[in-house]
Amino acid sequence: MTATWIRVLASYLHLLAVAVYLGGSVAMEFVLGPAQRFVPPAQAQVLGQKSADRFLVLVWAALALFPVSGMLLFFSLSDQHLVTHGGMFSTSAGLTLVAMMALWAVLVVNGALITFVFRPRLAGKVAARGGAVAGAVAGRIEAMQEAATWVSRLTRIDLAIALVVVLLGASLAYGNGIL
Ligand code: HEM
Repeated sequence: MTATWIRVLASYLHLLAVAVYLGGSVAMEFVLGPAQRFVPPAQAQVLGQKSADRFLVLVWAALALFPVSGMLLFFSLSDQHLVTHGGMFSTSAGLTLVAMMALWAVLVVNGALITFVFRPRLAGKVAARGGAVAGAVAGRIEAMQEAATWVSRLTRIDLAIALVVVLLGASLAYGNGIL
């Protein structure tokens, strides 16, 4: 009975993290992003910045919840033997789980790059380069544009990775893995 409750709770938290991460990314990419083009650039920039700041809190909460709920799920499952007895790297279930964790690590690295490298640049929080004021401003604008391109690129990559991880998760939950 206790094991069942742990499993239900772990599953609930895992799916909640998926909903927040994937649902949020889709909404940012396909709803908010396109809508921003219809407001003046200065307002679009503030809107984009404020919404991304708030969304990043949810992203980190979801990224933290994945391994906790995932491990809890794994240790409360009756099909654990598929991975542990056969070896983590020699069964389809084991390889699928390893791939899931590796891709989660990529999401964490990309999240860190967005949060600590590119978003500060996008917000113009980098030191101005160059001596002359005009040169410094041009340099800062160029750095911001480059950062915006990288944030958008990484966000799309993360979305694609998350979609693949969901497939891996489904293959584990309703089969013996896909790899
Ligand atoms: C360290 C990270 C992770 C670990 C340890 C982990 C572990 C697990 C485990 C053990 C299962 C259960 C398999 C079963 O029921 O037999 C599972 C299912 C699943 N995982 Fe993960 N996972 C992680 C990250 C992720 C991420 C990043 C996503 C998506 C963005 C994800 C999406 C799913 C989905 C959709 C399922 C199927 C749930 C269901 O239908 O019940 N997981 N995961």
